[in-house]
Amino acid sequence: MGTHGAAGPWREAFAPPTLSNIGPGFDCLGIAVEGPGDRVRARRVETPGVRLLSIEGDGGKLSRDTDKNTAAVAVAALLQRYAPRAGVELELHKGLPLGSGLGSSGASACAALIAAKAALGLDIGSHQLVDLAREGERVACGSAHPDNVTPGIIGGIVMIPTLEPLRCISLPVPKDLWFALYTPGCEVSTKHAREVLPARVRLDETVRHAARLGLLVHALHVGDLALLGEAIVDDIVEPVRAGLIPGYPDAKAAAVEAGAIACSISGAGPTTFAIAASEARAAVLLEILEESFTNAGVPGQGRVSRVSEGARLVSRPLH
Ligand code: HSE
Repeated sequence: MGTHGAAGPWREAFAPPTLSNIGPGFDCLGIAVEGPGDRVRARRVETPGVRLLSIEGDGGKLSRDTDKNTAAVAVAALLQRYAPRAGVELELHKGLPLGSGLGSSGASACAALIAAKAALGLDIGSHQLVDLAREGERVACGSAHPDNVTPGIIGGIVMIPTLEPLRCISLPVPKDLWFALYTPGCEVSTKHAREVLPARVRLDETVRHAARLGLLVHALHVGDLALLGEAIVDDIVEPVRAGLIPGYPDAKAAAVEAGAIACSISGAGPTTFAIAASEARAAVLLEILEESFTNAGVPGQGRVSRVSEGARLVSRPLH
């Protein structure tokens, strides 16, 4: 139970959904996008440590155990490194579906860190917050990959070229970049979707992959969406994971046929993104994705979206 008498004020933060991998950027490229995300409230209490008071919006699926919940794990790491004698209470409101490929586990960690940092009045830089949020990813799926939590904290389109030391590079956002995002009605476990990946990759595949990632960064710098489309191709990870998402190959083929600049899986999936150069074209692609996944028996939810900023405090709390 919380120590209500000596508790500080609640601070609330929102973290956006994030797309990751984006074709050739497996584990090193992510994008924060507009849409419903996760919210976390945090307040300082006298009793040291982290307590997770409530989780809403998860259908009862997430563990309430503070050693297993990404929000609590990230804040525990924050306390350990920056405020070992402090105590924090958390309330988590999930706006992102679990196992969706929209960085749900990372969003909880990012929102929790921004809220807890404010509740404790700590001065911690964004790189340090990314490092802490990665601890949440480690417990969620056994891998501390940075490509959801980095855009989750920093916002925009972000490349993470090295982990030791952690380097985060914000890339330019082309002004006409629009997304159709569709989340079919099935879950993909990130842990499983990582276990099925090949342990080794052929040299010729690696060369093509590296060249595409270089082209992608160049395309963003010159703001050329056609080049970006050429770069968003993944012959290594996507073919393996396509089989985990009912209807994905047909949905992608239909989106490409309809003129999508690119179409691929976000993260471990099943969220599928298609890129367009206008809101109207993105809306058309969204209808096409919706029809394909509905025909495949996995109707879900989608939206037209744009690149967004990262996690931030909200002044008008939900509660
Ligand atoms: N890069 C990670 C993966 C993202 O594709 O496994 C998972 O959210």
